[in-house]
Amino acid sequence: MKATAKAHTNIALIKYWGKRDESIILPTNSSLSLTLDGFYTTTTVAFQEDLSKDSFILNDQSVEGEAYQRVTNFLDKIRNLSGKTNLYAEVSSINEVPTAAGFASSASGFAALASAGTRAIGVDLSDEELSRLTRQGSGSACRSIYGGFVEWEMGSRTDGKDSQAVQIKPETHWDVRVAAVVLSSTMKKISSRAGMKRTVETSPFYTGWLDSIPNDMKEIKSAIRDKDFEKLGTVAESNCLKMHATTLGANPPFTYWHDTTLRVMHTVQEMRANGIPAYFTIDAGPNVKVLYLPENEDRVKEKLQEIPGVDRVTLSKPGPGVTYL
Ligand code: DP6
Repeated sequence: MKATAKAHTNIALIKYWGKRDESIILPTNSSLSLTLDGFYTTTTVAFQEDLSKDSFILNDQSVEGEAYQRVTNFLDKIRNLSGKTNLYAEVSSINEVPTAAGFASSASGFAALASAGTRAIGVDLSDEELSRLTRQGSGSACRSIYGGFVEWEMGSRTDGKDSQAVQIKPETHWDVRVAAVVLSSTMKKISSRAGMKRTVETSPFYTGWLDSIPNDMKEIKSAIRDKDFEKLGTVAESNCLKMHATTLGANPPFTYWHDTTLRVMHTVQEMRANGIPAYFTIDAGPNVKVLYLPENEDRVKEKLQEIPGVDRVTLSKPGPGVTYL
């Protein structure tokens, strides 16, 4: 009763920002992402009759506390699906750089856990069913089941049966690259979970955000279909700015941006003014991801690395969906 799965992280081009149900994680808006090849989690789940509780080892270290609780709560969902509610598991995960590269590891982490866990216990799910299950661990993780360009359809049901990710185009469709720009200084972290909750509850700008999603979604899908990079980047950058604008209206107000974050944003806009097509997007933290095309890789990397306050720049290509090892 053992299985190993590998899942890659993803970067949202249309952001998921807000929940309509916190317990089974249903979003207030649909989102769209690109799965990345550079960063992934490999997880082995072994269910064993002789265990009296779950254990979780991450990068060879035993994990306790909140992170352990999230894993064991998620294993409960897998146990319930299988009917084997008294069977505990040893979970061991290796994260390939995600935190150091400024990515949240929860997307690849829960996608790998859901995939390995269901396979180990013998529950056979379709990709859409697996995505719906994964969503309940961490919202953005439901997109990491698939490679390439992926949409998380928000759905409208209260039981979540129509809220899952689907692949729009595979990773082979279009070689859009992503540079992860990691800043050297950190700041007090408001998790994406807490940040989106505060924004939904208090920001007067939140309805404006929601109103703008259908058009952004339509535009970005046509950009992906037509491989129109300028359009893709323009929509992604503006969607990111709208998401971050909602946080300034929250009570208490907050921003994820750091002075270096702004410096990177300006550099990207300057690159465009100088004829290098590049666009930024930012998640719930100060680091920046820059979209570019392969022919501009060297110039983009060089420009980003020169910015004072940037610690390192890591490059990624479109990546695949979940695989089993
Ligand atoms: C800004 O998926 O980390 O990265 O569902 O509470 O686990 P939970 O949140 P999470 O939020 C990701 C928010 C984001 C945008 C995105 O990835 O779509």
